[in-house]
Amino acid sequence: MITTDIFASVRHELGAVEAKLREIAPNQHEALTGATEHLLASGGKRVRPALALLAASAFGAETQRAVALAAAVEMLHTATLVHDDLIDGSLLRRGIPTLNAQWTPAATVLTGDYLFARAASLAAETDSVEVMDVFARTLMVIVNGEINQLFISRGRASRDDYYRRIYAKTASMFALATEAGAILGAAGDSAIAAMRDYGKEVGMAFQIVDDILDYVGDEAHVGKPVGNDLRQGLVTLPALYFLESHPDDPHMAAILNGRSGDPAQVAVVVDSIRASGAVNEAMAEARRFVAKGRDALSAVPDGLQRDALDALADYVVRRDL
Ligand code: IPE
Ligand code: IPE
Ligand code: MG
Ligand code: MG
Repeated sequence: MITTDIFASVRHELGAVEAKLREIAPNQHEALTGATEHLLASGGKRVRPALALLAASAFGAETQRAVALAAAVEMLHTATLVHDDLIDGSLLRRGIPTLNAQWTPAATVLTGDYLFARAASLAAETDSVEVMDVFARTLMVIVNGEINQLFISRGRASRDDYYRRIYAKTASMFALATEAGAILGAAGDSAIAAMRDYGKEVGMAFQIVDDILDYVGDEAHVGKPVGNDLRQGLVTLPALYFLESHPDDPHMAAILNGRSGDPAQVAVVVDSIRASGAVNEAMAEARRFVAKGRDALSAVPDGLQRDALDALADYVVRRDL
């Protein structure tokens, strides 16, 4: 769990974000209201809205606009998860069944679309065209990255390919949260750039840890299926390090050659990766990203918010869900 300390300075605003996320549009179909409630009530760590609020408040942004931004970012995250689980065929998220486990693909896609539109309308409530622009561009980066993963990035990839992929799917949204927060606080260009860098580096570390948890996490605790990535032929950082030290591993080769649908092959490789030094190497890499993120904080004014952003960066490499 995230300790209350890290979020303490924005706890009140996070409550306002929850209320905003649950606002119901006029004539909204009850199925959409039910689905949104199902998703929001299932929890989620609320890391992205906390980042947006801390960044905004570090630069003295108006609370109402900061809350709208934070809600927009969490809604965007929720929408991407709805589509991601459908694409990945994942049946469990935050310990409860996903929408695609209960609904048809058509209803799931449309609900995701609705949430994307809700996110855009929340972003518009910031009254900042600049924020809306960063928001829209980030969504383009995310979708482009997912398409790339779908068409090209299976199998043997380089670490650079991997970093490009996790920037697109995760770090870009973290960077959006912190950059847009600084924009709302009318920070100077170099401070905005530094906040963007902080979000990006912490986001890279966050996704590496997510990829590590896919190997070493426990499904009941993490709240989503583990071992999933390799089953889908997705080579993440632990697998990349393993491949570097075991280039001729026959089981890994089988997976790369399209046998990822074979549960026995996957189980053997997951065990080998767990037993190797690959997980520790990936964790060391996540720590390096976190250190870079913390360095970027020197551009942020001293205060509670900067301390919280520093602690949040550290939490990312200590989390276990
Ligand atoms: C899950 O994000 C998707 C990734 C980018 C790894 P989180 O781990 O933040 O998911 P919730 O919101 O806490 O469930
Ligand atoms: C999800 O990435 C990121 C996006 C939805 C863009 P993952 O596929 O790694 O997330 P989980 O593991 O399902 O939460
Ligand atoms: Mg997924
Ligand atoms: Mg994952």
